Amino acid sequence: MTVNPSTDFYRNPEMQFRGEIPSGRIGWRSPSNIALVKYWGKKPVQLPQNPSMSITLKNAYTETVAEYMPADERGMDVVFYFHGERNEQFEKKTKNFFESMQATFPFIGQLRFVIRSKNTFPHSAGIASSASGMSALALILCDLERKYFDTFPNEEEFFRKASYIARLGSGSASRSVYGGVSVWGETEGLPGTSDLYAFPVREDIHPDFLNYRDTILLVDKGQKKVSSRAGHELMNGHPFARQRFDQARKNLEILLNALKQGDLETFIRIIELEALTLHAMMMTSDPYYLLMKPGTLNIIERIFDFRENENIPVSFTLDAGPNVHLLYPVTYRDKVMPFIENELRTFLTDAGYIDDEVGRGPEKII
Ligand code: PMV
Repeated sequence: MTVNPSTDFYRNPEMQFRGEIPSGRIGWRSPSNIALVKYWGKKPVQLPQNPSMSITLKNAYTETVAEYMPADERGMDVVFYFHGERNEQFEKKTKNFFESMQATFPFIGQLRFVIRSKNTFPHSAGIASSASGMSALALILCDLERKYFDTFPNEEEFFRKASYIARLGSGSASRSVYGGVSVWGETEGLPGTSDLYAFPVREDIHPDFLNYRDTILLVDKGQKKVSSRAGHELMNGHPFARQRFDQARKNLEILLNALKQGDLETFIRIIELEALTLHAMMMTSDPYYLLMKPGTLNIIERIFDFRENENIPVSFTLDAGPNVHLLYPVTYRDKVMPFIENELRTFLTDAGYIDDEVGRGPEKII
């Protein structure tokens, strides 16, 4: 059988329990991340058309505990509780994901799982939970492997594999297994980067960016009408696809330099360009669609004005939705919080905002 590196890189038919099948519990807390250079467009299997770069968040995370025990005669099974309630949608998704992982972790087939998961951010807030949720599951699977098969020579290998597995669940999840700044996708001039897993950019980031703030302004809590999966697909045959993928590559290089130099002006220019380009791709897809809301545009205009009038380096990025991530150096917090309360609050839902910052990555909790 031919091995496809995008799915079978870690295939290991040996990894099965030979004697007694164990029971136990493993839990991980894994954060969400926000892309500064966007991944939009993919090729099989779950490989990016261009490299992306993100910051990992601190307060927006998923906590997942998996209880495992020997499977019965029906084979591998998953029961999934989300915030204490059985959730069939997540159950199905996780079961499918685990099934697809059986060439990599054959021992999964010998187990059944009861999974309890919760997010710190409101479910209806339109914050992508797939990055934190999928990375937590990937870490749990790798941790099971580490516990019973002792296959990882070091931590680095452990997290690299977790990133690879998370990527197969949701592309952006590959970046959540690392704190600080991560790059997913092969990048010229950045050795260690790969399309298969994310890479933590640890050296050389200017200290101003290591505790950067991200206040996530919740403009709309509705479910988005077009999924990311459909959005990625619309990049196939998109008239601007080629230029977009090239632009992202260049933007990543420029942004990486700005992060090293502490060049705020360039940082702001590139992340806002990336945010608006992501949405421009949606607006110029066929069929076209629009995820920004009037509140999104009102907030962006006020950010531009505030930056210019007060000379404070606030900036924004957007995910695939109407909410606005307001990014700024922590030293300006005293000025930015009143700006949010006095000028932006009026465009927000009751959920308001999530006050977040750059975080250090996932943590094992059990
Ligand atoms: O990981 P996915 O397939 O949900 O795609 C995420 C795409 C964006 O969030 C819009 C950008 C990114 O790089 O995270």
